[in-house]
Amino acid sequence: MKISGVVEHFLSRADWVDRDETVDRIILGDPDKDVGRCVVAWIPSFAAIRAVVERGVGLLVCHEPTFWDHFDHAPQAKPRCAEKLGFIRRHNLSIVRLHDTWDRWPEVGIPWAWGRALGLPGPPAEIGNRGYQHRYDIDPVPFDEFAHRIAAHTAPLGEPTIEVDGAPETLVSKIGIGTGCAVGVPAYLGMGCDCCVLTNDGSSYWRDVQRCQDLGIPTITVDHGTSEEPGMATLARYINEQVDGLAAEHLVQGCRFRLVEAADAG
Ligand SMILES: [Fe+2]
Repeated sequence: MKISGVVEHFLSRADWVDRDETVDRIILGDPDKDVGRCVVAWIPSFAAIRAVVERGVGLLVCHEPTFWDHFDHAPQAKPRCAEKLGFIRRHNLSIVRLHDTWDRWPEVGIPWAWGRALGLPGPPAEIGNRGYQHRYDIDPVPFDEFAHRIAAHTAPLGEPTIEVDGAPETLVSKIGIGTGCAVGVPAYLGMGCDCCVLTNDGSSYWRDVQRCQDLGIPTITVDHGTSEEPGMATLARYINEQVDGLAAEHLVQGCRFRLVEAADAG
């Protein structure tokens, strides 16, 4: 199918997306180019782009920006951008971004896939913030016990140790999860959540975590990439099952950082 047809498949089924405003578009590449295969990857890092080229695949379908701002404005004008841009062009790699569509895609989009990956019982008890934030209800459990459960689910995504803030014994039962950068504490509070799962790109300590601590609401903060990787698996599966003529391979990226421990002082 043509690359323009890939974008159109998603936009034509997403009435929540404003075509004039959305970042879901062809970032680089010829709309009329025929493609039969693609790689789905959360963020088009230079490493991911090289991996796609090594696989001999001409289309990368991604969720986040390629050139470090939400709208991928004028990459040629950005300092130190020439090498990445030149590599993409030299290898004739096309990049399609599916963000606004997939964030709120019913049942399998980002927050749905994230809730399922965390083992939270569906369907969500409440959906807020235009679909970006969900509340899942569980039997009351001490916060640390719940956090250990969550870490067991984030470990396979590359994040076995998670940041928690809150008293270990606080009982939690109304769990708020969100979509990447859409993890607003006011929305969680409005949904009656008593435990908030945040991300490192969507929340700040001073603004969000401290607010929750002052209210006695425990928080868990995970990597943005960790939280959206399950949604990339569902996107690849969706393309394979629903987009005629296009086969997708999922390039797993997961947690984007490493933890380093102190060296022995002696
Ligand atoms: Fe995101």
